[in-house]
Amino acid sequence: MAYFVGLISGTSADAIDAALVDITDSKIVLSHYLETPYPRDIRSRIERLISSTADSLTAAEFGLLDRLIGDAFGKAATNLLAVAGIESAQVCAIGSHGQTIFHAPSSNPPFSVQLGDPNVIAFATGITTIADFRRMDIAAGGQGAPLVPPFHATMFTREDYDVAVVNIGGIANVTLLPSRSDGPVIAYDTGPGNTLLDHWVHRHQGLSYDADGDWARTGQLMTALLHECLHDPYFALPPPKSTGREYFNRHWLDEKLKKTSATTVPAVDVQRTLVELSALTITRQIQQKMPKCAEIILCGGGVGNSFLVETIATATPAAITTTDTYKVPHAAVEAMAFAWLAQRRTAGLPGNLPSVTGANRSVQLGGIYRSDARATPSAA
Ligand SMILES: Nc1ncnc2c1ncn2[C@@H]1O[C@H](COP(=O)(O)OP(=O)(O)O)[C@@H](O)[C@H]1O
Ligand SMILES: [Mg+2]
Repeated sequence: MAYFVGLISGTSADAIDAALVDITDSKIVLSHYLETPYPRDIRSRIERLISSTADSLTAAEFGLLDRLIGDAFGKAATNLLAVAGIESAQVCAIGSHGQTIFHAPSSNPPFSVQLGDPNVIAFATGITTIADFRRMDIAAGGQGAPLVPPFHATMFTREDYDVAVVNIGGIANVTLLPSRSDGPVIAYDTGPGNTLLDHWVHRHQGLSYDADGDWARTGQLMTALLHECLHDPYFALPPPKSTGREYFNRHWLDEKLKKTSATTVPAVDVQRTLVELSALTITRQIQQKMPKCAEIILCGGGVGNSFLVETIATATPAAITTTDTYKVPHAAVEAMAFAWLAQRRTAGLPGNLPSVTGANRSVQLGGIYRSDARATPSAA
């Protein structure tokens, strides 16, 4: 047994996902998974920050939020171990992604900011914590994202046919996995997953998400708006590319609505159209880059949106499954990936895939924040 914990809160900033994973040379097995919602005041601070401009953040607010998120992540790890009945001394390391508050891989120079002080996580849990996973890849000329694809490749590559893994978080990302020994892995953010859906249903229905896509299902597709959205230059950019809520946000949507004079149409029709946008930007990319893709394996919170899943299925000839089919709960994949990345760092192995992030070479990812509560992992 070699337990690692992975912690992440994605662009949706809905909850801290925590996975306890048993990683040995021969297999990777999820032991326990737990979502801990952010305390309400921390979530609203994050939401305020993400939806405003980064320039408006003071150093004091930045420092405070870094600490508060670190405390919340530490609590999420402690909760997970309590539920699992595992002592901290049994865990080799925690891999904490933190909370992205700004991702600017194309600025000059590029940067990406994740908060959640790893010192407080290490101290609260007594477990050595690895964090700041993105910036070594950026230093090496990469996008610092996406980082989960090598984990997808390890878990889901098939011997004899091409598959795509699609994570539908706030942003959707696709990992194209050619059948074993047949070409490099390609992976990138396709664009919006749930983020515009969450924003629109919140604005018009006061809900944090459109449960099962039930509201969108009753709307009419607005073709002009869909085409305007599909013409956004991001979708035509070649990989490597990654994006976030700094780009796909309410301002982005409002501009598309204005351009198509769609500001007065029924709100439900916009929701319906946004489902189509997420579905098509995923399936068209797969069709273009991997025409022989036989199976699309879905994961992430968007799997809960059954209307979105049906819309994806309608738009592709590939079979649609979820990671649950392979005994990997769809909500747990990203947290498991950060447990796996912590194991890689502990073993001194590289974590990035240069073919995915665009980095000059593969590098070890993450800084190590040792807990002095006990002996540290032997290979670190
Ligand atoms: N039952 C559901 N119906 C519709 N959408 C859902 C459901 N469950 C989760 N979601 C969507 O999944 C999102 C969270 O997905 P997640 O993978 O955690 O994203 P992120 O990685 O960005 O945090 C929610 O904001 C919501 O849009
Ligand atoms: Mg989430």
